[in-house]
Amino acid sequence: MRIRTAVFPVAGLGTRFLPATKTVPKEMLPIVDRPLIQYAVDEAIEAGCDTLVFVTNRYKHAVADYFDKAYELEQKLEKSGKHEQLELIRNVLPAHVRAVFVTQAEALGLGHAVLCAKPVVGDAPFAVLLPDDLIWSRGQGALAQMANHAEATGSSVIAVQDVARAQTGSYGIVDAPTFSGRAGRIEAIVEKPKPADAPSTLAVVGRYILDPRIFGLLETTQTGAGGEIQLTDAIARLLPEAAVDAFRFHGTRFDCGTHLGLIEATVRYALDHEILSAPAAQMMQSALDEMGVTET
Ligand code: UTP
Repeated sequence: MRIRTAVFPVAGLGTRFLPATKTVPKEMLPIVDRPLIQYAVDEAIEAGCDTLVFVTNRYKHAVADYFDKAYELEQKLEKSGKHEQLELIRNVLPAHVRAVFVTQAEALGLGHAVLCAKPVVGDAPFAVLLPDDLIWSRGQGALAQMANHAEATGSSVIAVQDVARAQTGSYGIVDAPTFSGRAGRIEAIVEKPKPADAPSTLAVVGRYILDPRIFGLLETTQTGAGGEIQLTDAIARLLPEAAVDAFRFHGTRFDCGTHLGLIEATVRYALDHEILSAPAAQMMQSALDEMGVTET
C-alpha cells in the first residue's frame, strides 16, 4: 500500500494564537523563512504524495493563495534578475504535484475535517498531516518512514511519541501491548485520558496513514471530547476491522500549536540553518546574558 494522497486539515480556528490568527491562519506562521504548511507539504511530497488536499474554511484564503501562482511577483523578480528568490516561490509546489482545496463549512472537529476530503481521496489509503505538528529530522522525514512501514506491513500507521504521564490529557493515547522498538499493533486508543486512566504514555502526534474505511466510520461518529467529531474515536472503531500500527518515528516533534512549541521550533531551525546558525546562537547568548536569564 503506497500512499499518493495527503490531507491537510487546516480549517481550525487557531484560537491559541489570537490575535495573530485573526487574519493569518496558524499554518501560515513562519519558522525562519517558510510557513508551517510548507514543511508539512515537503514532508508529504518526500513520502511520495502527489495529490495534496487542503481542508480549509471559507475565511482562509491565505493557504490557497500561497500555493497559487504569483504572476506579478514572478515578473518583478524576473525583471530585477532575482533568480534565486524566483526559484523559491516557483518551487513551493513541484510541477508533478496537484493541490485540491475543500471547504469545511463549520469547524466541527478534526474527524469531520478529514471526512470532508473523502470525495477527493476515494478508496485508497491516504495520509493525514497536521501542519502545526512540525517534525524535524536529519534523515528521512517522519511520513516517509511511516509510508515504508505501511508498505512493509499493509497496516494503517499512526505516529506516536513518548510523553510524561502527567501530559496524557493533552493527547490521543494508544494501547499497544506488543510495542517494541519502533512499532506495535494498536489495540485501543483514547482521546485525552486523565493520567490515571491512560493505557500507556504513547501519544498520537499529527501524522496518520489511514485505510479508506475510516470515512464510513467518520460518517457515523458522534461528537466526542471537546464537543468535536474526533478522528481518534473513528480510529478506535477501525481497530476491529483493520490492522493499525503505532509508529515511533526518528525525529523531533514541535507542537507549533502552542506558543512555546513555535518558539522552540524557531530556535531549533535557526540553529540548524546554514547561514543563520552562528549569528543566531550568538544573538541568543547575548539575549540570555542581557536579560539575566540563568539556568535553574
Ligand atoms: P487544533 O485543535 O490543534 O487546532 O486542531 P485549532 O482548533 O485550529 O487550534 P486552537 O486549539 O483553536 O488554537 C488540530 C488540527 O485540526 C484542524 C486544525 O486546523 C489543526 O490542523 N482542524 C480542527 C480542522 O481542520 N477542523 C476542525 O474543525 C478542527
